[in-house]
Amino acid sequence: MNDLFLRVCRGESVERLPVWMMRQAGRYMSEYRAIREKHGFLTMCKTPELAAEVTLQPVELVGVDAAILFADILLPLEAMGAELKFVQGDGPVFPQPIRSTADLGRVRVPDVEATLGYVYDALRLIRKELDGRVPLLGFGGTPWTLATYLVEGGTSKSFGHVLGWSYADPKGFAKLLDLLAETSALYLEGQIDAGAQAIQLFDTWGGLLDRRRWREIALPPVLKIVERLRGKVPLVYYIRDAAHLLPELRELPVEVLSVDWRMPLDEVRSAVGGRFVLQGNLDPTVLLAPPETIVEKTRELIEAGRGGAHVVNLGHGILPTTDPDHARLFVKTVQEISATP
Ligand code: CP3
Repeated sequence: MNDLFLRVCRGESVERLPVWMMRQAGRYMSEYRAIREKHGFLTMCKTPELAAEVTLQPVELVGVDAAILFADILLPLEAMGAELKFVQGDGPVFPQPIRSTADLGRVRVPDVEATLGYVYDALRLIRKELDGRVPLLGFGGTPWTLATYLVEGGTSKSFGHVLGWSYADPKGFAKLLDLLAETSALYLEGQIDAGAQAIQLFDTWGGLLDRRRWREIALPPVLKIVERLRGKVPLVYYIRDAAHLLPELRELPVEVLSVDWRMPLDEVRSAVGGRFVLQGNLDPTVLLAPPETIVEKTRELIEAGRGGAHVVNLGHGILPTTDPDHARLFVKTVQEISATP
């Protein structure tokens, strides 16, 4: 049994570093595309057998040290009552976005078993099929990041609706974040009960906020979730584009801090202090470069992480244009290099 990932999260010493990749089950693999050609993305998420199959692909074909549930951070928003579509080329779309306090009547805290039970069925099936080979992560979005999609109605460039609402009516916007926090806490508790051995919270758009606004707006609903989950399984907090927020993150009550590629890990560690296991942070576009570059950059990453506990990962999701052999080279390089002192 390979439990390197969980041991690092618990602060134990390990014989080599664990490595996995965000979005590791995805379009860069022909085996994923073969299934995706036959089924819509949401159908795959909602069919436990399909979700389990693609979750296992990178474990079996790329050799990663952890599996991550195949699902999406936006699924609980659909469960809250917001219609969700994935449109080819456009990504996620909410045709009727929530843009004011008056719109809050259209969303509610759902019965998570009734609406998201398919996720729990998938987790149970994946644990069974993994049979202890590697640990299984569950995940969700942070309320702030979920709100960006629900309020904008999908992916955005300027985030004018969500940022505008947060300035114009802070109290009403806080109510939305609180609904999202309550839903997320219930949803993620359910994931743990169904077998998730760690939980990663994705704060992909946390970096849009300045320091004070992140502390006042984004942090309280995260703390609400973390307080409910803490002590059950290791918690990983991922944030993108957030070098300016590192001083705020020092006190975050999670075990693992996962960062993007913009700062070297040794500098991240000096900024946040020695308390965290750090996860990351190879620039995903390095995997588009020739093999020698991948090996060199991976070596540098491991060097930069040597000052403390490290789960090797990318700084954001693997790109669909990545050659799977390059992903395998990254994983193998970590597993070989980090085994030698
Ligand atoms: O990491 C994994 O392999 C597990 C599965 C996973 C997916 N989405 C599957 C997915 C995870 C952990 C996510 C998280 C997610 N989803 C985030 C946070 C991480 C990040 O990338 O910042 C966000 C913001 C979303 C929302 C989302 N889902 C967007 C913006 C898109 C469109 C962009 C894109 O990559 O296509 C998705 C679609 C999506 N989620 C796909 C996959 C495999 C592609 C769907 C397809 O096959 O067409």
